Amino acid sequence: MSAPSIDDPWSVVYMTNLSGPVDLSKSYNPSSLAGKTILITGGASGFGAAFARHWAAHGAHLILGDVNDSLGEALVAELRASPTTRADQFITYQHCDVTSWADQVSLFRAAVSGSPTKRIDAVVAGAGIVDSNASFDQPQNLDDETTIPPPPPLRVLAVNLTGVMYTAHLALHYLAQDSTTTSGNRDRHLLLISSIAGLLGLPGQTEYTTSKHAVMGLFRALRGTAGLLGPAPERNDTPIRVNVLCPYFVSTPLISRAGMALLAGAALGKLEDVVDAATRLMADDGIRGRALAIGPKMRVVDIAEGDEYGETVQMVESEPVVPGRSERKQAVWEVYGHDYRRVETFTWRYMAMLNLMTGLRGWVGFVKDLLGLCFGGAGSRGR
Ligand SMILES: NC(=O)c1ccc[n+]([C@@H]2O[C@H](COP(=O)([O-])OP(=O)(O)OC[C@H]3O[C@@H](n4cnc5c(N)ncnc54)[C@H](O)[C@@H]3O)[C@@H](O)[C@H]2O)c1
Repeated sequence: MSAPSIDDPWSVVYMTNLSGPVDLSKSYNPSSLAGKTILITGGASGFGAAFARHWAAHGAHLILGDVNDSLGEALVAELRASPTTRADQFITYQHCDVTSWADQVSLFRAAVSGSPTKRIDAVVAGAGIVDSNASFDQPQNLDDETTIPPPPPLRVLAVNLTGVMYTAHLALHYLAQDSTTTSGNRDRHLLLISSIAGLLGLPGQTEYTTSKHAVMGLFRALRGTAGLLGPAPERNDTPIRVNVLCPYFVSTPLISRAGMALLAGAALGKLEDVVDAATRLMADDGIRGRALAIGPKMRVVDIAEGDEYGETVQMVESEPVVPGRSERKQAVWEVYGHDYRRVETFTWRYMAMLNLMTGLRGWVGFVKDLLGLCFGGAGSRGR
C-alpha cells in the first residue's frame, strides 16, 4: 500500500495541518519578528542569549527567564542600550528556575502584563543543563544494606524535561489566548530545543540523552494536537505551531572543558547556524511541526535531496567532488519528516475525532454569533 500524500484529507499529515518540508534554500523575512512578544527560558546565555540579541535587533519584545541573574540582567541592559532597540520595545529579565512551576507561571504572567500587546506570540523552551559528572552511570552508596540510600539526583531530567514540560504546558495556554487589542489572526509558536542527543545516543550522557529524546517525544505528540486544541476555530484563530531544533555540539558554556577537549579537532556546529535555523522557524509562520537538525557545514553533492517529507534520502560527505556535479554546503537538515505518514488505528481515529470536534466548535461559535446578532447576545467573540 502506498503512503497517503500530504494533500490527502484522509491522511493524518493533512489532519494535523503539518506543513511540508522546509525549503532551506529559500530566504525568509525576519522583519515579521517586529512587535512579536517572545518568551525565552534559559535566555541569559548561549543559544537563548544569541536568539535574544538577534531578535531584539529585529524589533521583537522579549522576556528572558533564567537562574543566572547577573548574566540575564547584563544582557537586558545591553539590549536596551543598543542603538537598534526602539524606545517602545519591551525587553526584560526575570529570575525563573524552570523546575519551579510557580516561577514559570510568574514568568508567563509577567510577559503578558509587560508586553505592549498583552499577549505572548512565541515561546522558546531553551533552559538546559548537562550532567558533567556522568553520575547516573556510576551508582554510589548502594552497598550499605542497612539504610535506604538516596535516589540518583536526576537534576538533568528536572531541568531538561520537567522544566520543558512546564514551559510547553503554559505555552499551550498563553499562546491560545487572544488579546483585546488585536485580531485573532496572529502567529502562535512554541519552539522546543532538543539536541543531536535527541536523535542519537550520547554515551556518558545518559540522563541528557534521555531528556532530549523525551523532548522529541513531546514534539512529535504535540505537533499533532497543538494546532487543534488551543485557539478558537470560531474566530478562525491561527493554530499553534510547534517546531524543534536538534543542534549538534556548539561551543557555549553548556559544553564543559573536558567535552571541548574530547571534540578537539572535530568540526562543531556554529552558533550562527543555530540562530539562523531558529529565526527561520520563528519568522516563517507557514512552518508547522518541523524538526531541524543543525551540525557542522557538510559538503554534499547534488544527489543529496530531501524526499517528499523533507528527510534527506542520501547524503554524501567528504567525498571527492565528482567532475561536472554541483557541490554545496549545508548545516541544517530536516529530521522526523515521516511522522504521521503511516499511522495505526488509534492515532488515525483520535486525529479524525479531534478534527471533527474542532469543526463542531467552529460551527457552534458561528451559530452563537448568528444568535447574538439576531437577539443582541455577546456571541462567541466575548470569550
Ligand atoms: N551547546 C550545545 O552544543 C547544544 C547542543 C544541542 C542542544 N543544546 C541545548 O540548547 C539549550 C541551550 O543550551 P546552551 O548551549 O545555550 O547552553 P548555556 O549553558 O549557554 O545556556 C543554558 C541556559 O539555561 C540556564 N538554566 C540552567 N538551569 C536552569 C533552570 N533550572 N532554570 C532556568 N534556566 C536554567 C542557564 O543558566 C543558561 O543560561 C539547552 O537546552 C541545551 O541542552 C545545546
